[in-house]
Amino acid sequence: MTATKGLEGIVAAASSISSIIDGVLTYRGINIDDLAENASFEEVAYLLWYGKLPNRAELNQLQQQLDEYAVIPQQVIDQIKLYPNGTNSMAALRSAVSSLALYDEEANDMSAEANQRKAIKLQAKLPTVVAAFARIREGKEPVAPKKGVSIAYNFLYMLTGEEPAEVAVKALDQALVLHADHELNASTFAARVTVATLSDIYSGVTSAIGALKGPLHGGANEAVMVMLEEIGSFDNVESYINNALANKVKIMGFGHRVYKNGDPRAKHLQHMSKELGKLKGNMDLFNMSVKIEELVTGQKGLKPNVDFYSASVYTNLGIQRDLFTPIFAISRVSGWTAHILEQYQDNRLIRPRADYVGPSNVKYVPIEDR
Ligand code: COA
Repeated sequence: MTATKGLEGIVAAASSISSIIDGVLTYRGINIDDLAENASFEEVAYLLWYGKLPNRAELNQLQQQLDEYAVIPQQVIDQIKLYPNGTNSMAALRSAVSSLALYDEEANDMSAEANQRKAIKLQAKLPTVVAAFARIREGKEPVAPKKGVSIAYNFLYMLTGEEPAEVAVKALDQALVLHADHELNASTFAARVTVATLSDIYSGVTSAIGALKGPLHGGANEAVMVMLEEIGSFDNVESYINNALANKVKIMGFGHRVYKNGDPRAKHLQHMSKELGKLKGNMDLFNMSVKIEELVTGQKGLKPNVDFYSASVYTNLGIQRDLFTPIFAISRVSGWTAHILEQYQDNRLIRPRADYVGPSNVKYVPIEDR
């Protein structure tokens, strides 16, 4: 038995949710470009859960469920108020989502109906949790969710307490579509491993949030913004990147385990970044990003991934840097829960083997002889 480091190239589950074949990403067989240009995030979430696009009545019903479930228990709000100053935003989300289970009387109901309902509850509540956390840490009261509006609209509204601009809602909605699912990425795999023990959906999503937090996965979008801030201005880009590459420092937002010829989602975010920059009358972040891409692709052949242009998009939407990864989670929870439901449908415990490389035939030594 020899281990494949990072499970690269290992096919670990059969799934009919999303695919990456020859660099093309599809959700339920529909090309991501088609969805990014035409679908709302709610349609995409429905597609991931039910395997087909909703008709008008089905979409309306989902909207009603999202409206009903978007409110979070007061106890969870009270707990968020007790989080220490400076709490990491993903740690806060992980803790709050774990707490949500305590106040859901069907948390441990493993029927297919209850699990589907809980998937919609989690989708509805995550934006409320993130917005509440963002306000509470600034000493403000959370804003209650609105009914009859999209998740993108509601999130921006709950964050600021103001009606968001249409262009901002559209940009965030498209970003949510692009991040919704991605085959067997690390956080989705973590969710599937957790629920394959027949643990509950909240445990699966809590595991997934923990996995998404890392800078090699969802945390990369925030790390991109840290880098852009460190670089500071267009004129510093070249020396910063050359220096980083010479010192073998990884440039966040570049490279991908599966896509070797570019991430199909990046071009949509690049376009959005440009449009939002123009609208704001400030192209600095966009221009810096393009220059970084030119240098990294030119010298290393590495292409930007989904996280690279997300950073300038979210910043131009006025969103604080440490909320970027929680926004990724607000979107990806649709994919996580779709995968969890799929795992439950045809479950087998996920329990691989390890290639033992430690010593053997070692004798126990009594403590006084060590
Ligand atoms: N910047 C500079 N070099 C990079 C790089 C990056 N972002 N990503 C990969 N490389 C280099 C590695 O240093 C390595 O070079 P070497 O063979 O000379 O040692 C080679 O490319 C292979 O990289 P590796 O880390 O083994 O690839 P992986 O498949 O294990 O990792 C990522 C994939 C995404 C984790 C990796 O590309 C990375 O860390 N990217 C930055 C973080 C990021 O943007 N994550 C979000 C992913 S959506």
